[in-house]
Amino acid sequence: PTLKDAFAGKFYIGTALNIPQILGRDSASLKVVKNQFDAIVAENCMKSGHLEPQEGFFDFSTADKFVQFGLDNHLFVTGHTLIWHSQAPRWFFTDSLGHDVSRDVMIARMKNYISTVVGHFKGKVKGWDVVNEAVLDDGSLRKSKFYQIIGPDFIKLAFEFAHEADPNAELYYNDYSMANPQKREGVIRMVKELQSEGVRIDGIGMQGHIGLTHPDIDEFEKSLEAFASLGVQINISELDLSVLPNPDFHTGANVSDNFKYDKKLNPYAEALPDSVAKAFNQRCLDFFNLFLKHQDVIERVTLWGVNDGQSWKNNWPVRGRTDYPLLFDRNNLPKPVVKEIIDAAMNY
Ligand code: G3I
Repeated sequence: PTLKDAFAGKFYIGTALNIPQILGRDSASLKVVKNQFDAIVAENCMKSGHLEPQEGFFDFSTADKFVQFGLDNHLFVTGHTLIWHSQAPRWFFTDSLGHDVSRDVMIARMKNYISTVVGHFKGKVKGWDVVNEAVLDDGSLRKSKFYQIIGPDFIKLAFEFAHEADPNAELYYNDYSMANPQKREGVIRMVKELQSEGVRIDGIGMQGHIGLTHPDIDEFEKSLEAFASLGVQINISELDLSVLPNPDFHTGANVSDNFKYDKKLNPYAEALPDSVAKAFNQRCLDFFNLFLKHQDVIERVTLWGVNDGQSWKNNWPVRGRTDYPLLFDRNNLPKPVVKEIIDAAMNY
């Protein structure tokens, strides 16, 4: 059995596709996608900078191919992501002089963007990450340009515009560090507020950018349970398991450029030590067992790429790292854990 066979009837098992894959330049990893997965999400090609690089100029060429691949192969297609501070092009927020636009202009631009994009893929993209990463680790809302110009209700407006554009699409809120208790509370507050205002929100995406020791799996489970008790589905999104030291942006540990090409930054560049491979294996199983335990509320588990060579983790937070965070190695061969995950699912 493959991964998708093993999880059939439990949850979708998906992967992100990058642009070279979508353009057909990586047939080896696409073969793995077709064999193993039944859901896809676009790693980059549906971000606003790709879809509307200039105001009024939409480019759906790559995203159309991505969606068509999903339809051709009967995969659940998720759109990622409509409103994200990090990848929105500058024109979104500024006038021709480079000044911030007014709240009304900003709302009109956001509405036009969401209606055009969601409308374009109506009926084909089954679910959207409507708002991405709007809550900070302390639980307050991120003071992004969307927040500064529109105010906190940019979130509600984004969901409403998406719902108007495709009333049948599922709508999600997606974020990282969700095991953090303060962030958990912040997300719960935000979702409850949307619900009390009658705004449609179907799911919460818990990004799974995890490491060998972080986050605490019990805290992750607490968040999963707390989110599910709001009556929304859970998507485990963007799953990858870094084996490298975790960059800590509060203390600066493992973040600095000084680590470039240093053994410390790139400790496994030649070969992954057995002990690390074992730790990876166990940690993967722990998380997949947790997902199996909560299969009644989990709708989808999505890896953030097929093979280690494709992972953004190789170059974050500085270039030159070599990481091993995915289920397939750089030759698209399944790691030993794949069989163990399949066995765990079949025997559950
Ligand atoms: O395509 C260009 C290429 O032409 C150029 O030569 C190269 C030089 O740096 O850049 C390439 O684009 C990069 C792209 O990834 C493809 O590799 C962008 O600079 C880079 O910013 C982009 O990073 C993506 C990042 O989001 C920002 O959009 C990562 O691939 C992607 O994995 C990452 O995904 C995010 C989720 O969307 C949201 N949650 C966090 C997650 C990780 O940051």
